[in-house]
Amino acid sequence: MAPPPAALAAAPFAEDQLALIERLLRDASPEQVQWLSGYLAGFQAAAGPRAAGPALPAAPAAPRPPLTILYATESGNAEALAGTARKAAQRLGFAVKLRDMADTTPAEVVKTGPLLVIASTWGEGDPPQRAEAFYAGLLGADAPAFAGVRFAVLALGDRAYANFCETGRRIDARLAELGAERVAPLAECDLDYAAPARAWTETVLATLAPEPDAGAAVIRVDFARTPAADEVPDAEALGPRVAEAEITERVLLSSSRSTAETWHVELALDGTGLTYEPGEAIGIAPRNDPALVDAVLAATGLTDDAPTRAALTTRYDITTLTAAQVAAHAARTGDAALAGLAADPARVAAFLRDRQVIDLLEAAPTRLNPAELTGLLRPLPPRLYSVASAPEAVDGAAHLLVAAVRWQSHGRGRSGVASVDLADRRSAGDRLSVHVKPNPHFRLPEDPDRPIVMIGPGTGVAPFRGFLQRREAAGARGRNWLFFGARQFTHDFLYQLEWQDWLASGVLTRMDVAFSRDQPDKIYVQQRMWEARAELWRWLDDGAVIYVCGDAKAMARDVHASLLAVIAAGSGRDADGAAAWLRAAQQDGRYKRDVY
Ligand SMILES: Cc1cc2nc3c(=O)[nH]c(=O)nc-3n(C[C@H](O)[C@H](O)[C@H](O)COP(=O)(O)OP(=O)(O)OC[C@H]3O[C@@H](n4cnc5c(N)ncnc54)[C@H](O)[C@@H]3O)c2cc1C
Ligand SMILES: Cc1cc2nc3c(=O)[nH]c(=O)nc-3n(C[C@H](O)[C@H](O)[C@H](O)COP(=O)(O)O)c2cc1C
Repeated sequence: MAPPPAALAAAPFAEDQLALIERLLRDASPEQVQWLSGYLAGFQAAAGPRAAGPALPAAPAAPRPPLTILYATESGNAEALAGTARKAAQRLGFAVKLRDMADTTPAEVVKTGPLLVIASTWGEGDPPQRAEAFYAGLLGADAPAFAGVRFAVLALGDRAYANFCETGRRIDARLAELGAERVAPLAECDLDYAAPARAWTETVLATLAPEPDAGAAVIRVDFARTPAADEVPDAEALGPRVAEAEITERVLLSSSRSTAETWHVELALDGTGLTYEPGEAIGIAPRNDPALVDAVLAATGLTDDAPTRAALTTRYDITTLTAAQVAAHAARTGDAALAGLAADPARVAAFLRDRQVIDLLEAAPTRLNPAELTGLLRPLPPRLYSVASAPEAVDGAAHLLVAAVRWQSHGRGRSGVASVDLADRRSAGDRLSVHVKPNPHFRLPEDPDRPIVMIGPGTGVAPFRGFLQRREAAGARGRNWLFFGARQFTHDFLYQLEWQDWLASGVLTRMDVAFSRDQPDKIYVQQRMWEARAELWRWLDDGAVIYVCGDAKAMARDVHASLLAVIAAGSGRDADGAAAWLRAAQQDGRYKRDVY
C-alpha cells in the first residue's frame, strides 16, 4: 500500500527515516497498516504524555480546503465508502460535504469545489433509483458547466453484468465533457471493492491535498489519538462483520407439486453479535457445487489437487464468466478460435450469454497449475437474502426465504450457487458464514401510525413478513396493505396461514393476491393494483409509504408503470404529473424499492 506522498512530505522526520517509513508502508497489506496504527496508539498511551515530546507546531490557520464527496447507492456500499472517505479527508484537513445524489442537483454540486464521486450501477447499467434525477440532469442537455472543478470517480459494479460499472463510467465521461478536470483515472471495482476503494481514496485525497507549508511540520493523520466513536472507519467499508450462524430449521414452503422451489431457512444468531432491522438482508457465504468443482479440476488437469479443490469449493467464483476471462484464457492457451472470439465484442457477448467458466475451460482445454487456475477466477461473492423476520418476534433469529435457482443451457444443467447450496446440500445443524447487510433505505417508517403498501410477489414478500412482525410486536396502529403474487394458490402461497392470521387479527388491513397460473390468462400484482386503484390512491394520498421488493427485471418495472396509472387515474394528473408525483414520493422516502 503506497503512503500518500502529500502526507509523508509533511511528516516531521529526516529523509532516511522517511525512506524507511515509505518502504515499510509500500509493501504493507491493509491489515498490517491497521495493526501498525493500533500498535502506535498503544505505544504512545503506554509511554504516557511525556513521550509525545514537545508540542508539534499547530496547523497553519489557513482555511480548510473544501471537498464534496457525492455518492449514488442502492444497497449502501457506495454510501459506506463515501463515509469512510469523508473521515479520511477530514483527517487530512479538508472541509468535507457529504452528499447523497438523491438529495442534490448538478447545479448545487458544481458550486462546491473538488468532487469525489462514488457511484454504483444497478438494473441493466442503470444508476441507483434514488439517484435517477441527478443522473438524468447530469447527462441531460441542461447540465451546468463544470469548468474548473477537479474530480475523480470510483465506480462500483459487478463483472457478472454486461454493463459493468456503467453509471460510474458515464458520470466520469460526462464530468470531463462538461469541462471538469479529472485528477485520477476512473477506478472500476468489482464486488471485492474494499481494497481498491481504499487505495483510490488514499491516492485521490493525497492528490487533492493542499501543498504543505514549507517549514510547518504538520501531522494531519494522527495515528496516536484514539478516534472518537463516530470517526472509526465504517465496518462496511473495512468488510462486514462475519459470523458463523447455525441453521436451525429448513422447510420447503412451496408444495412438492409446485414448478418453483422456495425454502424457509431459520438461522440462530445468538452468540454471533449480529443484529438486524426488518428490511435488511443477510449475506451468506455459499459453497460451490462439488460436481462442478470436480468438472473444473478435471478440465484443467488438477483432479488430485486437494488444496485447490478446497479453495474452489469456498473461495472462488467458478460460475460467472466474463469477457476478461475469455481473453485471458485465449492468450494462455493460444487457441486460435478462442482468440478470434475474444477479439470480437459482439461474439464475446453472445458466447458469455448463459455460459459459465466450465464452458470456457472445455472450449479450449489445457492443463493449468493451481495459481493459473485461481488467477483466472474472481473471489466467490456472498449472496444476499432479505430477512423475513423481525428479531423481537423470533428470539433474535433471522428467517430467510430462498428460491432455488435451476436452469438448463447449452446442454448442461445449471444451478444457482447459494440457493441450491441451501436447498440441496445444507440441513438443520449446519453452520453458515453470514453477515448483515444494512439497508437504511428500506425501513419501516418511524411513525407507527403511517399506512404502508407492500408489493412483494415471490420471494419479494420476505421483508414484509418482517415488517408485520415488527408492527404487531410494537402494537403499531398504521394500516398495512399487502400485494402478493405467485404461480399457483395451492402450491406457492408462501406463509399463507400467517397472512390469514394477521388479516383476522387486523394487523394486516388488506391483502390482494395474484396467482399467475391459476387461469388461462396470467394475472400479476400490477393488475390487482389497477383493479384496486381508487382505494389504493386514497392510501397514497393519505401519505402511505409504498414498498416494492422482488424481481428487478420485469416486476419492478411493471409495478412502477401500474403505480403511475393508479396515480393518474386517482388524482386526475396527466402522465407527466403522475411521474412527478412518484418522483417526489421517491425523493421524500415514500416510494422504496429493494429489487434484485
Ligand atoms: C438485496 C437483495 C435481497 C435479496 N433477497 C432475496 C430473497 O429474499 N430470496 C431470494 O431467493 N433471493 C434473494 N436475492 C437474490 C439472491 O441474492 C441471489 O441472487 C439468488 O438466490 C441467486 O443466487 P445463486 O447463488 O443461487 O445463483 P447464482 O449462482 O448467482 O446464479 C444466478 C445467475 O444465474 C443466471 N441465471 C439464473 N437463471 C437463469 C436462467 N433461467 N437462464 C440463464 N441464466 C440464468 C443469471 O445470470 C443469474 O444472475 C436478493 C438479492 C439482493 C441483492
Ligand atoms: C439487481 C442488481 C443489478 C445490478 N446491476 C449491475 C450492472 O448492471 N452493472 C454493474 O456493474 N453492477 C451491477 N450490480 C452490482 C452492484 O453495482 C454492486 O453490488 C455494488 O457494489 C452495489 O453498490 P451500492 O450498494 O452502493 O448500490 C447489480 C447488482 C444487483 C443486485
